[in-house]
Amino acid sequence: MPERTKLLIVDDLPENLRALNALLRDEERVVYQAATGEEALALLLEHDFALAILDVQMPGMDGFELAELMRGTEKTRHIPIVFVSAAGKELNYAFKGYEAGAVDFLYKPLDADMVKSKVNVFVALHRQRQETQRQVEALERARREQEATLQELGAAQEELRRALRMRDDFMSMVAHELRTPLNTLFLETQLRKMQIEKGLQEAFDPEVWKKMVARDDRQIQSMIRLIDDMLDVSRIRSGKLSIRPGWTELAGLLQRVVADLSRQAAEAGCCITLQVDEPVSGWWDEFRIEQVIVNLLTNALRYGSCQPVEVTLTVEGKAVHIAVRDRGEGIAEELQTKIFEPFERGVDNGVAAGLGLGLYISRQLAQAHQGELTVESTPDGGSVFTLTLPRLPAPA
Ligand SMILES: Nc1ncnc2c1ncn2[C@@H]1O[C@H](COP(=O)(O)OP(=O)(O)O)[C@@H](O)[C@H]1O
Ligand SMILES: [Mg+2]
Repeated sequence: MPERTKLLIVDDLPENLRALNALLRDEERVVYQAATGEEALALLLEHDFALAILDVQMPGMDGFELAELMRGTEKTRHIPIVFVSAAGKELNYAFKGYEAGAVDFLYKPLDADMVKSKVNVFVALHRQRQETQRQVEALERARREQEATLQELGAAQEELRRALRMRDDFMSMVAHELRTPLNTLFLETQLRKMQIEKGLQEAFDPEVWKKMVARDDRQIQSMIRLIDDMLDVSRIRSGKLSIRPGWTELAGLLQRVVADLSRQAAEAGCCITLQVDEPVSGWWDEFRIEQVIVNLLTNALRYGSCQPVEVTLTVEGKAVHIAVRDRGEGIAEELQTKIFEPFERGVDNGVAAGLGLGLYISRQLAQAHQGELTVESTPDGGSVFTLTLPRLPAPA
């Protein structure tokens, strides 16, 4: 049921108020009565009136003064006014400037039909205006909802496109990353087959043999690492990445990892230095820590422009920091968050890159240890990746 229309009548004489009230009141209207301009103002500020009927002659604030005040107030400015006055008086002059159509006059003695019909017109206008207002609001609401839906749809579509693009990129990257070592292995076996068929015994010299096995081993290791990374990602995605902490000593671990990778680095003409002061033991997952360090070092060698790479181990209160610093091109500020996301490979600078999973997995592993993996980098100043691990006591 629509709200009842509110009418205001203002007159200093109670019998006039009573008479008007009796004339105007019905089921769809509420009539508010005020005996003075002040009373009327209080009501005007509180309610939303369709029409105000003002007695012109009142002691104190008269009808015109009240109308003047109404005109000066935002909330009441648009309320139509009907002045009631003694017949024969010239009234129009006072309110010429008032908004067109919003002012009317009634003369005493009041003619009941006249009053009713005038008021009906104003009430009908008011209702129409309210209805229009409601429709405008409903339209505006609908428009906003539609806009929001469109926006959501657009975002979903963009997300989908991105996912599809990523899937395609991912497939071609995996294919490429697996194809390369497989190619090498395949060529190697073809060569052996040929040598066996031709009885080329010198090809099976122990030295040659050793080198061949080492090469094969590297290819196989790189494929295993790739597949392990993909398995790690699916474990992370399904929330099943877990660590198996044990009593671990980091200085020794770093020495071993650095020694292993130094051979590889030397072949590429880079060197890795390690700075550790003393053994640092704690309750961590040794294999996972090694995985993180290998990832960071591989990156430093790969993206560090063949400049020296430094690894440091420092203890600070209850935390341990392992920092891997390179002197490469650095990482642009806007990429420093992105590179920790899966499949993010930073800028495509032509350097043979992996799948973009290393940092993502490494950070997850740091967090699984209740630690963190952060980067500091300035363009041309190189990058420092720091793995921070808490020194948790071994469980009882
Ligand atoms: N030390 C570094 N210097 C410069 N850029 C780096 C370094 N480490 C990582 N990045 C950037 O971060 C990206 C993501 O690294 P990562 O997750 O290990 O994936 P991937 O090495 O397979 O590309 C790299 O592709 C590279 O652009
Ligand atoms: Mg990497």
